[in-house]
Amino acid sequence: MEQYAIKGGNPLVGEVEIGGAKNAALAILAASIMTDETVLIENMPDVRDTNVMMQAMESIGAVIERIDRHTVKISGKAIRDLAIEDDYIKKIRASYYLLGALLGKYNKAQVTLPGGCNIGLRPIDQHIKGFRALGADVRIEHGLIIAEAEKLKGGHIYMDVVTVGATIDVMLAASMAEGQTIIENAAKEPHVVDVANFLNSMGASIKGAGTDVIRIKGVNRLHGTEYAIIPDQIEAGTFMFAAAVTKGDVTVKNVIPKHLESISAKLMEIGCEVEESDDAVRVVAAKPLTHTHVKTLPYPGFPTDMQPQITVALGLSKGTSIVTESIFENRFKYVDELTRMGASIKVEGNTAIIDGVSKYTGASISAPDLRAGAALVMAGLAAEGTTLIDDIKFIERGYEDFHLKLQGLGAQIEKVNSERELQKFRLKTG
Ligand code: EPZ
Repeated sequence: MEQYAIKGGNPLVGEVEIGGAKNAALAILAASIMTDETVLIENMPDVRDTNVMMQAMESIGAVIERIDRHTVKISGKAIRDLAIEDDYIKKIRASYYLLGALLGKYNKAQVTLPGGCNIGLRPIDQHIKGFRALGADVRIEHGLIIAEAEKLKGGHIYMDVVTVGATIDVMLAASMAEGQTIIENAAKEPHVVDVANFLNSMGASIKGAGTDVIRIKGVNRLHGTEYAIIPDQIEAGTFMFAAAVTKGDVTVKNVIPKHLESISAKLMEIGCEVEESDDAVRVVAAKPLTHTHVKTLPYPGFPTDMQPQITVALGLSKGTSIVTESIFENRFKYVDELTRMGASIKVEGNTAIIDGVSKYTGASISAPDLRAGAALVMAGLAAEGTTLIDDIKFIERGYEDFHLKLQGLGAQIEKVNSERELQKFRLKTG
């Protein structure tokens, strides 16, 4: 089984290029099959989730050509099947975007109920409510969600919770419904805006994405387009916090600094210097880190997808910090692993109370999910001694070449596949 072997202690220094946003890419991929014309997508991250999504799209007849590692050409013209029961698709949450896309284009879709990260209950009631408001009949049978309508008609939807997934899913279906749809209490995340921009570049008429009211005027057909996905806010934020915990100096390049504001603000609060330029952000951690409090919130609040990373940093910050998780109810599973590395953290419900320690020490641990996995790698990079991380498949769902990018910043990290490779790593790193 593949593991990351990490020898901690090196400050990360240098520049790292950030890839396309995974969570925008997943929805944009689904949207791309809503036209019979060809779509060219640039800045596509080469990660497991996007690759599984493309595999599922191919399973129903989409033709996908990889022009280069980050550019794909997609044609949905030959789609022959509206049922996605691909085994792999269960593993990714974003399979629900295929429901919105196929329902919008063909008035019918059937998709295996999504699985995904192990971060707690993840209902899809708001997706279903939205589709129903557009006139679809939605039912769950034999582990499949089946949505169909004679004709989708625009509707008025008030989301009971701020949800990225349901906002995008309803936007997809509504862009080809008859008449106007209004989504209130919509999510405002950068990837919601990116998907709206992508659909608009295909001829959709979506206004207000990025605010909490989105208005969609349905169109009869969408056309081909060429589009570049925005940079990944969370990949960038992860490297920024990796700089902080290793007392490093890292510039994340190819980013939109505006999307990183809540992350930069917290880094400054705990004692880092953050310099922004047009498309880069530099984080310098010259001083000891100090405590702070943080609560995860929908955008523009501090992202839940950065919660494990900030907790790892606060675990090494002087004083007591409190982290409150307000989006998912089970996102502190990694704390047990971090405790094995010497952290002093008590979790009560959705709150973690952190007493900063002066150092972590290397241990053998497992990645419980994508972001927590990345955060544990960060802990390993800061720790004294060697850390071994299992289940790195979770990390590979959303980070492209994670260990290689870290190596580029001076980290001692390798992917090892056997006891022999591990011994070699230990000999090399001393
Ligand atoms: C997206 O998940 C992301 N995934 C998640 O990223 C991210 O953590 C999350 O948004 C929040 O930003 C993808 O984009 C594929 P939500 P999503 O719908 O859309 C509740 C990562 O690490 N809710 O915004 O599934 C839900 O339980 C992943 O990259 C309902 O109650 O999240 C949660 O409490 C992990 N009913 C809140 O809303 C619904 O129908 C926000 O969830 C839908 C959601």
